[in-house]
Amino acid sequence: MPPTLRPRRLRQSAPMRRLVAETRIHPAQLVLPMFVAEGIDEPRAIRSMPGQVQHTLDSAAREVERAIAAGVGGIMLFGVPTAKDAVGSGATDPDGILNVATRFLAERFGDATVVQTDLCLDEFTDHGHCGVLDERGAVDNDATLERYAAMAIAQAEAGSQILGLSGMMDGQVEHVRTALDAAGHLDTAILAYSAKYATALYGPFREAVDSSLTGDRKTYQQDPANRREGLREALLDIAEGADIVMVKPASLYLDVLADVAAASDVPVWAYQVSGEYAMVEAAAANGWIDRDRMIAESLTSIVRAGADVVLTYWAIEHAQLLGTHGLGAPTTGAGR
Ligand code: PBG
Repeated sequence: MPPTLRPRRLRQSAPMRRLVAETRIHPAQLVLPMFVAEGIDEPRAIRSMPGQVQHTLDSAAREVERAIAAGVGGIMLFGVPTAKDAVGSGATDPDGILNVATRFLAERFGDATVVQTDLCLDEFTDHGHCGVLDERGAVDNDATLERYAAMAIAQAEAGSQILGLSGMMDGQVEHVRTALDAAGHLDTAILAYSAKYATALYGPFREAVDSSLTGDRKTYQQDPANRREGLREALLDIAEGADIVMVKPASLYLDVLADVAAASDVPVWAYQVSGEYAMVEAAAANGWIDRDRMIAESLTSIVRAGADVVLTYWAIEHAQLLGTHGLGAPTTGAGR
């Protein structure tokens, strides 16, 4: 008996496949992470992230113009300061690089795009941890919350529209929300990096921000072994008032992403991190993998798993590609 049920009917041509595609990506779903460095005159290449740079204010502005022209949904700023200390003073200083860059870009582009900032201390501390340390050298959760509150107010005053809380301290969303509201920043939104795992995939990022970390972040970022805990962290952040929750990294954590997407009543984002980017770029540079297909497939998979928005270093490039393909998935080859 020949089969009567033939799923291959809907795969027979590129236009047919495009018509029945369940997942589509729009440029507005892509957010570009950017690094802005203090005290440099020219953009500086990040060796482990080919194609990405530490920006000057001017080169950052040109990059944001490109992002807007490509239809990218927003930008996420990271600061690379020249001086660091035990409490990360540069993070709360209005003249610190992240606050300066935020003010500079928000004034110019705040009406055309969404300017967002990473809210974490690790770029600003001399020990490289995401919080302040107690006398035993352990990260002090509740003392860190005070620093995050001050950092939130500094970023909101600089014009950041969404604060990306990436430090993984307990109670950080509620604490920051309360501080923002008390200071009158009722419209500043909170993006909670809710399920953030202690992963090897942040390796290239540590070069990108000149990290001084020795050791690891395993007492605050999550254990890759834990799926249920990722959902718990997201639900806690929603209860604490998060406007958006995020899962990070993306590709190795699609199960967690799908769990959070199924349970969340706020938008769910995912961060395709530096190591995900670097692995594809390195393999492609060696001719071992089809770079364009990998980028499209990885982003499609992250959105298919439930992400409404993806932070990706390929945001501009992929948005441009979608634009030239009439906002559809690129159709390559007859594929018979
Ligand atoms: C914390 C932060 C990190 C990343 C984003 N925010 C690093 C970390 O937690 O160690 C990593 C992003 C990436 O790898 O692309 N400020």
